[in-house]
Amino acid sequence: INRRRTPFRAVATEESLVGTANLDWEALRFEYLPTDGYCVYRYTAEKGWDDGRMEQEPYISLHVGATALHYGQAAFEGLKAFHCKDGKVRMFRPLDNARRLQRSAERLMMPPVPENIFIYACRQAVLANLAYVPPYGTGGSLYLRPVLIGSSPRIGVQPAEEYTFFVMVIPVGDYYKGGLQPVSAWVVEGYDRAAPQGVGAYKVAGNYAADLLPNSIGKSKGFPIALYLDAKENRYIDEFSTSNFIAVTQDGNTYVTPESPSILPSITNLSLMELAKDEGLDTQRRPVPIEEVGSFSEVAACGTAVIITPIDRIVHKDKTYVVRGPDGRPVGPVFERLYRRVRGIQYGEEADKFGWMVPL
Ligand code: COI
Repeated sequence: INRRRTPFRAVATEESLVGTANLDWEALRFEYLPTDGYCVYRYTAEKGWDDGRMEQEPYISLHVGATALHYGQAAFEGLKAFHCKDGKVRMFRPLDNARRLQRSAERLMMPPVPENIFIYACRQAVLANLAYVPPYGTGGSLYLRPVLIGSSPRIGVQPAEEYTFFVMVIPVGDYYKGGLQPVSAWVVEGYDRAAPQGVGAYKVAGNYAADLLPNSIGKSKGFPIALYLDAKENRYIDEFSTSNFIAVTQDGNTYVTPESPSILPSITNLSLMELAKDEGLDTQRRPVPIEEVGSFSEVAACGTAVIITPIDRIVHKDKTYVVRGPDGRPVGPVFERLYRRVRGIQYGEEADKFGWMVPL
């Protein structure tokens, strides 16, 4: 990338600016908050990607006929930057997000954002918002939301000619201040999340719109989280609304996660799996029938936002599966440990032996 021509602000010493925004860091949740701006790039077939810029006004001017609005030509990512123990700010596995967005882009016939532009955009968005990076010790982080949309008009159903890529950031808090808290899950009935050869394996906007109604039905029944089975046989576990399904076998020796053509390849799941191997566990990616859940000692949802959400009860029609570890506690020792290790690496308290942390 040509840095000289890129109209970004030069930012001085990162460390002194971190956490200087006037925010109650302890009160942060996973919600939108205004910051000092976001980074935007435009693509046209003739000119390719432009040099990008920072914008402050949170409204973008978008053609009313934009394909993102009419036909859902839109994909996004989610990743985090952390203020580490040594005072530096680092992003967690951004290259994996860059590659996943490229896969999503290809599936929706959008131009893939080159890896160097993706990383540079993330970096600039964080640098411009260092004041909003929650300080080390608060348990918070800066959540990055890269989004790629078809931004020019098409009424015949075809790909757009112009695309907009932006990276916005939001300071988010520590989800589990008092330690991991288990929740109960409802197995969705009457709706599928994704078809086997559809777009479930891509992080496209429409997947999340399609989940809103089933998810709200689950919530109205008192379940904080909803679990989808496969669309074909309605028997094998796919994933939760917005996060992967992970489990540990009764003997505590095997990390299990579903193999399915319609689930999102979660970077958090991949990381937990690598850590499980590192802990000496076997790992399996295989079809998981719903009736097997009663035999696991630990079940959880995993994703960037909260890393791990332990599940202690799964209700499928008139059957309730209770998940309990060997010691009877709802939060098992394996996920508790993996959770601590991921956090340790993210905050620079544990050596980054996998090379996951990328400095600004
Ligand atoms: C996660 O980050 O855990 C997710 O599942 C992404 C969601 C907030 C859209």
